[in-house]
Amino acid sequence: MTASVEKFTRQTLLDVTPLTPSLFTFRMTRDPGFRFIAGQFARLGVTKADGTTVWRAYSVVSSPFDEFLDFFSIVVPGGEFTSELSRLRKGDTLLVEKQAVGYLTLDRFSDGRDLWMLSTGTGVAPFLSILQDFEVWEKFERIILVYSVREAKELAYQELIAELTQREYLAEYAHKFQFIATVTREEHPGALHGRITTLIENGELEKAAGVALTPEYSRVMICGNPQMIDDTRALLKTRDMRLALTRKPGQIAVENYW
Ligand SMILES: Cc1cc2nc3c(=O)[nH]c(=O)nc-3n(C[C@H](O)[C@H](O)[C@H](O)COP(=O)(O)OP(=O)(O)OC[C@H]3O[C@@H](n4cnc5c(N)ncnc54)[C@H](O)[C@@H]3O)c2cc1C
Ligand SMILES: NC(=O)c1ccc[n+]([C@@H]2O[C@H](COP(=O)([O-])OP(=O)(O)OC[C@H]3O[C@@H](n4cnc5c(N)ncnc54)[C@H](OP(=O)(O)O)[C@@H]3O)[C@@H](O)[C@H]2O)c1
Repeated sequence: MTASVEKFTRQTLLDVTPLTPSLFTFRMTRDPGFRFIAGQFARLGVTKADGTTVWRAYSVVSSPFDEFLDFFSIVVPGGEFTSELSRLRKGDTLLVEKQAVGYLTLDRFSDGRDLWMLSTGTGVAPFLSILQDFEVWEKFERIILVYSVREAKELAYQELIAELTQREYLAEYAHKFQFIATVTREEHPGALHGRITTLIENGELEKAAGVALTPEYSRVMICGNPQMIDDTRALLKTRDMRLALTRKPGQIAVENYW
């Protein structure tokens, strides 16, 4: 099979940055023909020593306008894909399926005033892409990024989050943005302490954001741990918020990572 009819392109790893022993970020070259909408994921392939290729979904962190692709990864002990991925170094090859996919995108909502982006662990990735794109800043009056991790050292992209609203093209929208970190297994200054679900139940999340979660105004994107997504959806259901479907508008869009 020639490269032109293959469903993927070969890209080069430009940079790998470890965050903790089980988390790292990486950057790779982007094929000029690879298009995606902020919030979507790419299917990445690594070729093992026996010549077989393993594929997994990875949310893009970088913006659709960047010339490179950024990603944020866990290392699952014994995981088929991440065991291989975490061995790769600058200059190594990764495969990228030509077609990006995923529905954790802003077009899921036709209206709404406040956008809540609720994430656990590596589930913060698609929200970073959305935040680096322009549309979200024009579409919503308030944008609240909530990022839950076990320990503070697992909070990735803190520099990027801090400098986002300093970017010249976003400066006029800075007042719209709020970043709320929550660290669940230790106390950490500047962060809340408790699961997203607990913080919704006890009202602390809304208090920290200074805005209520309501079906009228809130649109909620949720990404990461599937149990967290189910539990959060159940909580939001009691507030009359439901999944946004193509034929039936709603307030919630989700992406399960496993
Ligand atoms: C739409 C989509 C987007 C995704 N985007 C990302 C991403 O941006 N970054 C990323 O690291 N992973 C992401 N994942 C998960 C990713 O596809 C793989 O599951 C992950 O790379 C582990 O692969 P593995 O073969 O090593 O282990 P797998 O056999 O795939 O997974 C083994 C177990 O590890 C745990 N696990 C898997 N992924 C994660 C994770 N991200 N965080 C915590 N626990 C996990 C689960 O318990 C899972 O059952 C995404 C998954 C989906 C479906
Ligand atoms: N992170 C580590 O140091 C570590 C170490 C060894 C192994 N692992 C393995 O790596 C995998 C991923 O770990 P991770 O820390 O990235 O992801 P994770 O277990 O999904 O935890 C990320 C965040 O999500 C929260 N969370 C989990 N379930 C939730 C629910 N039902 N409702 C609301 N919030 C919920 C966690 O809170 P809680 O802290 O309250 O769970 C934590 O703040 C797991 O399978 C884990 O066993 C992780």
